[in-house]
Amino acid sequence: MSTRTASAVASPNIALVKYWGNRDDALRLPANGSISMTLGGLETRTTVDLDPLLDQDTLLLNGAPASPDSHRRVRQHLDLICDLAGLRARARVVSQANFPSGAGIASSASAFAALTLAACAAAGLDFEPRTLSRLARRGSGSAARSIFGGFVEWHTADSDDGSFAEPLAPPDHWPLVDLVAIVSRDPKTVGSTPGHALAQTSPLQEARLADAPRRLAECRRAILTRDFDRLAAVAEQDSNLMHAVMQTSVPPLVYWAPQTLTVMQSIATWRAGSLPVFYTVDAGPNVHCLCPAELASEVTSRLHGLPGVLDILACPPGQAAHLI
Ligand code: DP6
Repeated sequence: MSTRTASAVASPNIALVKYWGNRDDALRLPANGSISMTLGGLETRTTVDLDPLLDQDTLLLNGAPASPDSHRRVRQHLDLICDLAGLRARARVVSQANFPSGAGIASSASAFAALTLAACAAAGLDFEPRTLSRLARRGSGSAARSIFGGFVEWHTADSDDGSFAEPLAPPDHWPLVDLVAIVSRDPKTVGSTPGHALAQTSPLQEARLADAPRRLAECRRAILTRDFDRLAAVAEQDSNLMHAVMQTSVPPLVYWAPQTLTVMQSIATWRAGSLPVFYTVDAGPNVHCLCPAELASEVTSRLHGLPGVLDILACPPGQAAHLI
């Protein structure tokens, strides 16, 4: 085999009904289904060059050699894909995101979606998007959703075959914008992967999971009917439920900074005053503020007026991951 190269681009996503906890950590089978919006304007570009003559991998992630942990995770993912293709090859991987890591955006989602596409193409595997989504899931759960653009649902299942994402609505279905209010750029102390493993230690996780089908149905319906108030209510409740589980885990995980709560409370006040905007917070302190696109400048200027807001990234619904 000579060297085989392919490049792909993928965007991160923001979960409106969130994934927290796995029923199977090794296979990354999520404890509950989730729904997200792919984030336009932000992307990771990844090139994979499979070369049987290399004696070790070289992985350049955002301009720097990969840490041992990232190296292990990427190698495990490449092994999974190379095994499917019946290949044995080391790789040169160059991956670059156009947004800062530590910006409160799940960079592992876009990174593993782009890596999956590029590595499959380099290995000569021509899979349909559903299979690519299942494979991306094995690298990082939320990457399953970043295979698709627009509004996306990822299903939970008891086996590898059944847990994939699929599009709910295309990017132009609903012109919302996610204004990501950056309140801290510090790297998080506990990553999502060890965080998921703690979910079951919270007595609240069981109740969160039992109610997940209702929230998923609400969210799906809100998106399909473009019902902003319905989406705002379910997304904020879902985010608060996940953080309640995190904060009551053993040991507790508190991802919020004081400024996180300032932004959340301001948003609740603005919405009570009839400005349509809601918040959702992932495993970090930064606050995703979603509003109709025509109100983005009003919400942006109000956010800039809050203490502790360092920067704001504006993301419309984004496109599916694709080869370049
Ligand atoms: C809070 O997909 O980053 O952002 O599968 O271990 O890579 P791993 O976890 P990851 O978890 C995302 C958690 C979340 C909620 C969500 O995106 O659904």
